[in-house]
Amino acid sequence: MSGTDVIYQTEALIAEDIEAYLDLHQHKSMLRFITCGSVDDGKSTLIGRLLYDSKMIFEDQLAALENDSKKVGTQGQEIDFALLVDGLAAEREQGITIDVAYRFFSTEKRKFIVADCPGHEQYTRNMVTGASTADLAVILIDARKGVLTQTRRHSYLCHLIGIRNLVLAVNKMDLVGYSQDVDDKIIADYAEFAKSIGIETFTAMPISGFKGDNITAPSENTPWYRGPTLVDHLETVEVNSARDAQKPFRMPVQWVNRPNLDFRGFSGLVATGTVKPGDEVRVLPSGKTSKVTRIVTLDGDLEEAVAGESVTVCFADEIDCSRGSVIAVAANPPQVADQFETTLVWLNDEAMHVGRSYWLKLGAQMVSATVQQPKYAVNVNTMERIAVKTLDLNAIGVAEITTDKAVVFEAYADNRALGGFILIDKMTNATVAAGMLNFSLRRSQNVHWQALDISREAHSALKNQQPAVLWFTGLSGSGKSTIANLVEKKLHRMNRHTFLLDGDNVRHGLNKDLGFTEADRIENIRRVAEVAKLMTDAGLIVITAFISPFRAEREMVRGLIADGEFLEVFIDTPLSVAEERDVKGLYKKARSGQLKNFTGIDSPYEAPINPEIHIDTTVMTPEEAANVIVDKLLGDA
Ligand code: ADX
Repeated sequence: MSGTDVIYQTEALIAEDIEAYLDLHQHKSMLRFITCGSVDDGKSTLIGRLLYDSKMIFEDQLAALENDSKKVGTQGQEIDFALLVDGLAAEREQGITIDVAYRFFSTEKRKFIVADCPGHEQYTRNMVTGASTADLAVILIDARKGVLTQTRRHSYLCHLIGIRNLVLAVNKMDLVGYSQDVDDKIIADYAEFAKSIGIETFTAMPISGFKGDNITAPSENTPWYRGPTLVDHLETVEVNSARDAQKPFRMPVQWVNRPNLDFRGFSGLVATGTVKPGDEVRVLPSGKTSKVTRIVTLDGDLEEAVAGESVTVCFADEIDCSRGSVIAVAANPPQVADQFETTLVWLNDEAMHVGRSYWLKLGAQMVSATVQQPKYAVNVNTMERIAVKTLDLNAIGVAEITTDKAVVFEAYADNRALGGFILIDKMTNATVAAGMLNFSLRRSQNVHWQALDISREAHSALKNQQPAVLWFTGLSGSGKSTIANLVEKKLHRMNRHTFLLDGDNVRHGLNKDLGFTEADRIENIRRVAEVAKLMTDAGLIVITAFISPFRAEREMVRGLIADGEFLEVFIDTPLSVAEERDVKGLYKKARSGQLKNFTGIDSPYEAPINPEIHIDTTVMTPEEAANVIVDKLLGDA
């Protein structure tokens, strides 16, 4: 926590009985909220006002108090209001590109964490981060300006992220003479907009962060306003954890606790609902049921655990349950599916790749996921739906996602813990998107895997060979097709059952609808990978000759093919050599600008880092290369 993160508390209480204060402080409920609005709307001033309005002490001073209660009475450092606001604003500006500034304070009734987020559109991702854990949002409006584009964007994002407590703080009332008409007009404008995006209720209040009107005490300047002050409202509004406790019981398993043979417990945070010993529970995705015998914590066993508590649950039976499983009330479990409609907020500089496989992390569940072309993106300033091919940084869109394994989930609107996820780039490990599961697609529930009697083992046994994929990759003109053709001839002569999938040929049939954009190349490789996989199931040795320029897709294929059956063959020919040969005359066309997106010229080629076979064509003839590959395949397989 930084030096300006402050905690304030009634000085008198601390002075009287520090122990009592600390105890009270520990057991107070916590409200997380986010403030939205541009700097001009008075955000820093409002936060400064909240921190300032009681006597306050700095966080490190509180720590000192905890260590040395003799110091009680010497705290209560007075801080100049203007200086504090300047400090907050400066920190905000410095921190603007990194992330969200979190500030902590508390009143006698509650503890608070405020996420102070940058307001401009290019910081949408920061706002989403700040909003993702918030119970409430304070939407600030400058009374002189009324409802602005930013007001609408922030409200939309807060609503999208699932914040159901919205405060419309009509600020700077002192600058409009505390006019009720101005306030009424702004509320009416906002109500109309709010309704249009599905916001059902909000709490409006006329305030002045600068003067302190209606912040901690009702203002004499607004006798016409009968609602609560901002702090009253923050102290009494229902927090998410209270609402979550009313929902059906769900607990994602973080880890299995098995210190010895006599104890087996499942640890995690209760996401929703409550659980007691004796409760019938169901473990997903397996669907097995058991009874809870104990609820264990470091402070002893519990009679009941409630949403928000971290516990270890023990069962009466030894049923299947591991990290990523979800324990739920037996009679009303969450769903399991592998295809979803999702809303995505793209967080990465590099745009989304349709068809690429990303890690999808939902709590402790981690699966491979591919995203389809978005159905639409939302213009966050006008709320209009726009047709798009992909999602760029800060874009918000709706797209379908397919996962390689079943995911235990609930719609985000019902359960943030089981409906919110992130997408991670498999190569860089960067978090590229935050997502919300809207619903599962019915087709994923109705298409089941069919168990077949003639297995892949039976197919390969009849052919008397181990199936494999020799995945050639390299620049156009590197010699992939020539060498692949020689390899197939050699294997054929040795009575091996093979099939060669060649880029130019497959693009005449199966993939004739695809071009050479990044998205089309990814789809090209995805289809070929699926075909190659089917062919290995049929017991064949598959040879593929595609440029396959992206590492991520080659890794995707590796993940798809059975362990040990995938051999990446890098046909390494320098660009200058391939261009010099220019067998098809395409490099010339690309250089002259007649052919766009040509690999190596104006479209990237990502060379393999650790290929199983590396062929340097500048030191080997195609014949020699083919021998190396066949030897490696048959030696390995
Ligand atoms: S990949 O990038 O999607 O893997 P693929 O191997 O199927 O490419 O197709 C590459 C072949 O298509 C090249 O050998 C070349 O003959 C032809 N081609 C036509 N246009 C392009 C282009 N813009 N970039 C690369 N190859 C192209």
